[in-house]
Amino acid sequence: MKIAIFGFGTVGSGVYDVINMNSALIEKRAGKPIEIKYVLDLRDFPGNPVEKVLVHDVDIILNDPEVKIIAEVMGGMKPAYEYTKRALLAGKSVCTSNKELVAAHGAELIEIAKQNKCDYYFEASVGGGIPIIRSLCDALVGDDIVEIKGIVNGTTNYILSRMGEDGLAFDTALKEAQDNGFAERNPAADIEGIDAQRKTAILASLAAGYQVDCDDIPTEGICAVTAADIACAKEFGAKIKLLASIRREDEKVSAMVAPFLVFESCQLYHVNGVFNGILVTGNATGEVMFYGKGAGKLPTAGAVVGDIIEAAKYYGLPSDIIWSPEKAKMADKGSMTGRYYVRINGGSAVKAKEVFGACVENAVKYEENIAFITEKISEADFEAKIKDLDVLSRIRVYD
Ligand code: HSE
Repeated sequence: MKIAIFGFGTVGSGVYDVINMNSALIEKRAGKPIEIKYVLDLRDFPGNPVEKVLVHDVDIILNDPEVKIIAEVMGGMKPAYEYTKRALLAGKSVCTSNKELVAAHGAELIEIAKQNKCDYYFEASVGGGIPIIRSLCDALVGDDIVEIKGIVNGTTNYILSRMGEDGLAFDTALKEAQDNGFAERNPAADIEGIDAQRKTAILASLAAGYQVDCDDIPTEGICAVTAADIACAKEFGAKIKLLASIRREDEKVSAMVAPFLVFESCQLYHVNGVFNGILVTGNATGEVMFYGKGAGKLPTAGAVVGDIIEAAKYYGLPSDIIWSPEKAKMADKGSMTGRYYVRINGGSAVKAKEVFGACVENAVKYEENIAFITEKISEADFEAKIKDLDVLSRIRVYD
């Protein structure tokens, strides 16, 4: 079976390497040999063996009836959206790591694939090498998924781990993540929580079976998390993690991406570095945890190759992923409840006690600041209470 790879960046070159490295077992598992006929990229790669299959014109691939499967690993919307649609309309299955495209147009592309008897697979779009998508669509399909909480961005988890455990400065840790190929081309997407927001939209849409848009997911990144917060969190026996949080209740979905204090008793506390950890709760199975490398060339490529094998094995027998383009009913953000970590100037302690009560007595000290953890409170009430307090930092607590 002939395939093509769109994009020869970190993931694309990984897909190329994994297919060549594991060709014998891939043939056995797919039931047929899988051969890379083309790699599409705008750039040239002089001296690289990929030159033999490198093309710059997408039409060569889209018009070639021999090509049955495409790995779209170029990322971004343009031209990936158009190329993907054209490939699916031509009956070619597409396997992707492109979370931006899947989050925005997943439902539509799945439908086009169904109509053209091919597949749109996106295992690598969430959790890198972790098999979370197929698990939700397949092994856990008998469950009503009521909650998903997890670390879904490797770059920010790497940064927070290096700051917390090794005392690295934010910029140094980010540079390391970039050098390791974990970060997005524009790392603002990682540190501002946008990458995690896209992954959360995909997970929430699959859990609900309806479209959850990125715009419906309140999102905070890790830019406001300081060394002072990491030190205070440690005093409370916690670490700070950027979490995706999805709940389904009364037919409504609440979803959010934000930094959270996570205590040692929670499995996510122990998920460090580039690793992702995702806790899925089904109404029958209960809690299941997924853990693995959430970013990087080979883990992500491994997930794409897994999809290619699945698409090759069942070519002509498309799968049925349930994701309606109809919008999911979203819960109001202000009604979400939880505890908060708050850091203020020590001089405001009396006022803070008037507002938040006895919990301020258990504050930890950090230089001129104090930090305390509130009782459980709604988002709306919390925002109202801190209006007149000089809050230096506030971070949600994962309970
Ligand atoms: N930048 C992403 C991350 C890559 O750090 O998780 C994997 O999606």
